[in-house]
Amino acid sequence: MRRLIFATNNKHKVEEVRAALGGMVEVITLAEAGLHGEIPETADTLQGNALQKAEWVIEQLKVKSEKLRVDGVFADDTGLEVEALDGAPGVYSARYAGEHCSFDDNIDKLLAALDGKENRKADFRTVICLIENGEVRYFEGRVDGQILTERHTNGEGFGYDPVFMPDRFAVSFAEMPLEVKNSISHRGLAVKKLKEYLFNY
Ligand code: IMP
Repeated sequence: MRRLIFATNNKHKVEEVRAALGGMVEVITLAEAGLHGEIPETADTLQGNALQKAEWVIEQLKVKSEKLRVDGVFADDTGLEVEALDGAPGVYSARYAGEHCSFDDNIDKLLAALDGKENRKADFRTVICLIENGEVRYFEGRVDGQILTERHTNGEGFGYDPVFMPDRFAVSFAEMPLEVKNSISHRGLAVKKLKEYLFNY
């Protein structure tokens, strides 16, 4: 079975991606690969950040004494793009309310920025970068929706999930079972494209 390192320290994402890829690919986390440093994320586009993260893992593997058998590396980068905020927080979604801020801080800042605004249209966009044998490929997924005026949550999900309601649904991402979110989400759609590629090549 193909073994790929997923360049993330986010356990929610690992769960989502493992569930989506099923038994087709062995997904190794950074911790399982023995990589513990801080992943760089300083590009100004989602594509640039996804590439930077995947390349960082490849560099780390080169200097590691104990060699690990892996077929490739993939990384994702996601942004929440809000129309009334000219696409912000976008590539800065993780640090919208400042370095080391919490998901709650980010949501508070977003709700304040949209206070009184009628246009609450937003999308989540994910870019996945896969590097195998030096070849770089990108897979993109996007979901459109609205930013709610307050949090709606059953405790599912993470990040901006409590305030994002995808089009054609009456609940937020944080009120959906993981399988439902995966089937329509930005990352779910990008992973589906990755899966189709891995299945065919
Ligand atoms: P990342 O760069 O892919 O880690 O994503 C940047 C930020 O976007 C995260 O820190 C979250 O705040 C947010 N984010 C990414 N994916 C999701 C999601 O599926 N739901 C809600 N927020 C997300």
